[in-house]
Amino acid sequence: MTGENNNSLENAEVLLCVTGGIACYKSADLASKLSRSGAGVTVAMTDAAGRFITPLTFGTLTGREVYTSLWQEGENYQPQHLSLTERADLMIVAPATADIIAKMTVGIADDLVSALALSAWEACEILIAPAMNTRMWLAHPTRDNVQKLTERGVHIIGPNEGRLACGTTGIGRMAEPDEILAAAEMLLKKS
Ligand SMILES: Cc1cc2nc3c(=O)[nH]c(=O)nc-3n(C[C@H](O)[C@H](O)[C@H](O)COP(=O)(O)O)c2cc1C
Repeated sequence: MTGENNNSLENAEVLLCVTGGIACYKSADLASKLSRSGAGVTVAMTDAAGRFITPLTFGTLTGREVYTSLWQEGENYQPQHLSLTERADLMIVAPATADIIAKMTVGIADDLVSALALSAWEACEILIAPAMNTRMWLAHPTRDNVQKLTERGVHIIGPNEGRLACGTTGIGRMAEPDEILAAAEMLLKKS
């Protein structure tokens, strides 16, 4: 079965960035699956993500320090927003909010995750798993942003159709952790 200690990501360094949506709970499963596949997994999260899930969960699942602030002092005073992407083979943003997608499109870097996303462009592959309410996903700004990111080489998985946390049914569910894991395996095989 995918991700069950199959070592498919042995020696890979994955930077998992978590932004603020209900689908954060699925990111814990993703972090666990990436780790069990042999990857070294470092998690960075936004303030909004911290409203949904705690760093303790990711730290326990990955066995690594979790990064939550641009102002956290790094090892040897290396700025984390540069060093974390420098050593990553792949950056995954899951869930990716409408907000981080917009920031990534224009290059806003006003917190740790958006600064990491900007510094990742020239450092590693980028895979994002959008998750949001259907109307937010279909909104013109989001559609334009996603198109631009795709054209520039960012890999996008999902969102899927189905029941959403807001109680409606439609497109907007984050891709399942197994799907994201499979996409990560494919990207890292190629690079
Ligand atoms: C209960 C709740 C659920 C939310 N779910 C989502 C979501 O699934 N997708 C999304 O794009 N924004 C969602 N938001 C809005 C974001 O949390 C908000 O835009 C926030 O500023 C995102 O910050 P970040 O991108 O820095 O994590 C939600 C907000 C609340 C209060």
